[in-house]
Amino acid sequence: MLKHIRMAVAATLLALVPVGLVLAQTAPADPAPAHPELRGVLDQFGGEAGLVALMDDFMAIMLANPELAPFFEFSDQAMVKRHLVEQFCVILGGGCTYTGRDMVESHRGLAITRGNFNALVEDLQTAMNRRGIPFRAQNQLLAKLAPMHREIVER
Ligand code: HEM
Repeated sequence: MLKHIRMAVAATLLALVPVGLVLAQTAPADPAPAHPELRGVLDQFGGEAGLVALMDDFMAIMLANPELAPFFEFSDQAMVKRHLVEQFCVILGGGCTYTGRDMVESHRGLAITRGNFNALVEDLQTAMNRRGIPFRAQNQLLAKLAPMHREIVER
């Protein structure tokens, strides 16, 4: 009798394994969730052309930052900038398409810390300030980017 109960418990636990695996592998978040209500913010960034100019400044600032340069020095900077333009454009309700990878995949194995993440946000703020983007518009974009730290920061 006891043996049968043990076998039943074991079978139940085994049956739960696939459920656990499915739960553990939660799908990555949408890397470029569209916010049509932020279309006016995109205008304050100077539209898509403004984002292209912003990303040139942003990348140059990061490459001059000893904390961040090692991450980007040997990456395909043109591709990263292009994908960032697309990503920000979609988030800000523009008629663009994001063609890059999701945030988990594009940052996997880079061992990015919370400190690195904050440093990158500071450099983005510097770039936005230099381009005269209004403070409120900056924060509306940053509010959409901030939750992505969950998929980008590894340690
Ligand atoms: C909210 C913050 C961030 C956003 C929205 C973001 C967005 C992106 C995007 C769109 C790409 C291009 C993906 C692709 O080409 O498929 C990318 C690549 C990359 N990101 Fe980030 N990123 C963020 C934070 C960071 C941080 C904190 C670091 C490091 C300190 C970092 C380092 C990199 C590197 C090195 C690549 C290129 C990877 C490669 O060449 O394979 N990112 N990121």
